[in-house]
Amino acid sequence: MMRTGKTLLLIGATSDIGRATALAYAVAGWNVQLTGRNLDAVEREANDIRTRSGGAVSVHQLDILNSDGIEAFADALPAIPDTVVCVVGELGEQARAEREIGHAAMVMRTNFEGPALLLGVLAERFAARRAGTIVGISSVAGDRGRASNYVYGAAKAGFTAFLSGLRNRLTSAGVRVLTVKPGFVRTRMTAGMKLPPLLTAEPSEVAKAILSAAEGKKSRDVIYVRGIWRPVMMIIRCIPEPVFKRLKL
Ligand SMILES: NC(=O)c1ccc[n+]([C@@H]2O[C@H](COP(=O)([O-])OP(=O)(O)OC[C@H]3O[C@@H](n4cnc5c(N)ncnc54)[C@H](OP(=O)(O)O)[C@@H]3O)[C@@H](O)[C@H]2O)c1
Repeated sequence: MMRTGKTLLLIGATSDIGRATALAYAVAGWNVQLTGRNLDAVEREANDIRTRSGGAVSVHQLDILNSDGIEAFADALPAIPDTVVCVVGELGEQARAEREIGHAAMVMRTNFEGPALLLGVLAERFAARRAGTIVGISSVAGDRGRASNYVYGAAKAGFTAFLSGLRNRLTSAGVRVLTVKPGFVRTRMTAGMKLPPLLTAEPSEVAKAILSAAEGKKSRDVIYVRGIWRPVMMIIRCIPEPVFKRLKL
C-alpha cells in the first residue's frame, strides 16, 4: 500500500464507528493517532490496525470530560494531524437523565462540551497552519428535540451548531469542517434495539462515507450516511410544534 504521509487523529478509538474509521484511513495509507480514555483498550485496537494495514499507529490517552487536560493533550501529540475525527459520544438513558442530574450532565458533557472544546483547540492550530480537516460525529437526534431522547439530542444539536460556526469562521483559513449524521448504526450503542434495516448502517459504511466526504475532491459540509435520512429529518423538522408536541416519537 502506498503511504500518503498524512496523519489522522481519531478520538474515540474504542467505539465501533471509530475503530472502522481508523482502519479505513490506515488501509488508505494514512498514519493514525488513536485516542481513548482506556489506554490498554486503545493499544489493543492499535495492534489490530497495525496488523491489518501495516501502517504506523500511535496511542494517546484522553478522557473527554477532563477539559483541563485538553490543551496538554494537543501539545503532547507527536505531530499536528492533517485530519481529526471525533467519534466520542454517549447515548445514556433518557429516563435516568430526567431523574439524575449527574447522568444528564455526563450525557451533555460527553456529546457536546468535551468534543466541542477539543475540536476548538485543534481548530486554532489548524487555522494557524492554514490547513486541516475537522470531522465531528453528530446525530439526526440533534435535528429536533424528541421526548424519547432530548438530553442526548440537545447535546448533539449543540455540537452540530458548534461545527457549523467553526466551518463558517474557518473556511477562509483553509480549514474544512464536516458534520456527520450517521442515522442508526449497528454498534455497541444500539445493541438490543430493533432498528429498521433501510435506515440502519454498518460501522464500515459510516467509515467509508467519512473517508470519502472528508478526503474526497468534492467539498462536503454535512452528510447523512444513508441519504434517505435527509428527507426523513426534513419532514420531521417541518411538523408544526403544536402538532409535534402531541406525537409520541
Ligand atoms: N450507533 C448509532 O446508531 C449512532 C447514531 C448516530 C450517532 N452516533 C454517534 O456516533 C458516535 C460513535 O458511536 P458508536 O455507536 O460507535 O458508540 P460506542 O461504540 O458506544 O462508542 C462511544 C465511544 O465514546 C467513548 N467515550 C465515551 N465517554 C468518553 C470519555 N469521557 N472520554 C473519552 N471517550 C469516551 C467510548 O469510549 P469507551 O470505550 O472507553 O467507553 C467509545 O469509544 C457517537 O458520538 C454517537 O453519538 C451513533
